[in-house]
Amino acid sequence: MSNPPIGRLQNLVAIITGGGSGFGAAMAGAFVREGAQVVIADLDLASAARIAASLGETAALAIRTDVASNADMAALVATALARYGRIDVMVNNAGMSHPNQPMLEVGEAFFDRLFAVNVKSVYLSALHCVPVFRRQGGGSFINIGSTAAVRPRPGLCWYNGTKSAVTQITKSMAVELAPDRIRANAINPAIADTPLLTTFMGAPDTAENRAPFLASIPLGRLCTAEDVAHAAVFLAEPGSNFITGVCLEVDGGRCI
Ligand SMILES: NC(=O)c1ccc[n+]([C@@H]2O[C@H](COP(=O)([O-])OP(=O)(O)OC[C@H]3O[C@@H](n4cnc5c(N)ncnc54)[C@H](O)[C@@H]3O)[C@@H](O)[C@H]2O)c1
Repeated sequence: MSNPPIGRLQNLVAIITGGGSGFGAAMAGAFVREGAQVVIADLDLASAARIAASLGETAALAIRTDVASNADMAALVATALARYGRIDVMVNNAGMSHPNQPMLEVGEAFFDRLFAVNVKSVYLSALHCVPVFRRQGGGSFINIGSTAAVRPRPGLCWYNGTKSAVTQITKSMAVELAPDRIRANAINPAIADTPLLTTFMGAPDTAENRAPFLASIPLGRLCTAEDVAHAAVFLAEPGSNFITGVCLEVDGGRCI
């Protein structure tokens, strides 16, 4: 009798923020299918718990986390360690955007929250994960950026800025943390069919409103959550241990 196939992420433990929906939920599923154990951290505990339950009790744990909160991030990392004993991959995926709208219409409070959720979260993840990774002798960050960092669309000014910060921080983390064998990579997805789609379009989801976005992507379709999950598995697996500081477009050619 042959042995069962070994998954590409066998024995790895990953935290996936925003894992209750969209890209995060797909990444959680793909990571578990490849043998990892995942902690699904989301502001929306009910969604995170539903995804965790679908993946099985031993493989997945849901935790309510606001990634913009230092105390929540500390508790997330401590809970993950208590449950699984180590953390190999931190996926900073939770994010938000203002609707597609003129830049001056985004209020100051929304701007502050946007940068806290999309950018400060990466800082907080570093504060709490880097010491763990150093103790373990390595680890890996996967930060979800966006094509918005490379080829910004109008109407998304401040969101685009957050994703530029994410990609530049990713490269900076990669060079500074390399001596500790800690890798940092980003994924830059194109616009995708997740609950954020109408926010980015700034309009209802109709064929007419999708048309200009589809026309801007050479491969002729939107990004899917599975496209992002495949890229994340690749960046997380041990075979990628010489890849760091990469901001990988998953965009059907949008950024060419
Ligand atoms: N959907 C797209 O078109 C697209 C394209 C490029 C990049 N992105 C980025 O991908 C990431 C995931 O987006 P998605 O499309 O899967 O979105 P989504 O709205 O489907 O999922 C986001 C998840 O993050 C959670 N979340 C939001 N704020 C949080 C917070 N403060 N703390 C913890 N959890 C929080 C939400 O509850 C939700 O479950 C985001 O960073 C987004 O900016 C999305």
